[in-house]
Amino acid sequence: MRIVLLGAPGAGKGTQCKRIVEKYALTHLSSGDILRQERAVNSELGKKAQEYMDSGSLVPDELIVEMMAGAIDKAPPTGFVLDGFPRTVNQAVELDKTLSAKGQKIDAVINLTIDDEIIAQRMTGRRSCPQCGAVYHIENLKPEIEGRCDKDGTALVQRPDDTLEVVANRLETYHKQTEPVVDYYRDNNTVYDIDANKDVTKIGDLIFEKLNVFTLA
Ligand code: AP5
Repeated sequence: MRIVLLGAPGAGKGTQCKRIVEKYALTHLSSGDILRQERAVNSELGKKAQEYMDSGSLVPDELIVEMMAGAIDKAPPTGFVLDGFPRTVNQAVELDKTLSAKGQKIDAVINLTIDDEIIAQRMTGRRSCPQCGAVYHIENLKPEIEGRCDKDGTALVQRPDDTLEVVANRLETYHKQTEPVVDYYRDNNTVYDIDANKDVTKIGDLIFEKLNVFTLA
């Protein structure tokens, strides 16, 4: 099964991807996580991406398309969930070309819909584990010990692009450049809209309801 998970910054894409990959044994391919790993090792790609990410703009398509084609190539044949990619119509077109060259296609598109007002609270309260990538929230999803990851005890960190100012830019970028991707998929695939204003478990259950159809097929 090959899935695209769309949604605004803070809609809960990463949170829900972790649940989806566990349930269906898929690979989680997050463009944001891959870029952050590139930055952590100070690669050429990481250096090029830095200023775009820190300001809340999109990294140029040509860099992202090549990076994600490489990640898809390496993914096991059981399938994957794309998180944060594609983010422009051009990226979506290039993704279709990459898959079609392998005789593959996207099976399902999940679109997490959320009110803009909720996003700032989710983003500024997010904390993540730099070791294992687990994501928490200071109010909505607290770790057992404040400031420490439940899985490995590592000190949790706040992402540098989770400030109010950068979040506002990321949201504007999303409305201008990524919302048209939803329309692209509506024209070419089945898009499942999921209300992401609800709690994490309820959203997960709604997503599973849609995806179970593919596992029964
Ligand atoms: P990326 O890392 O992809 O960031 P994003 O899309 O802005 O999404 P986030 O990871 O911030 O949010 P999320 O939806 O995953 O929410 P989460 O589950 O963590 O991209 C970062 C940057 O990289 C971009 O700005 C860009 O520069 C660059 N980039 C990446 N991909 C690119 C591409 N394809 N093209 C060009 N540039 C690209 O949840 C957020 C918080 O809310 C957490 O604390 C969580 O615990 C909490 N939460 C989640 N769900 C709920 C809920 N239902 N109720 C209450 N709290 C919840």
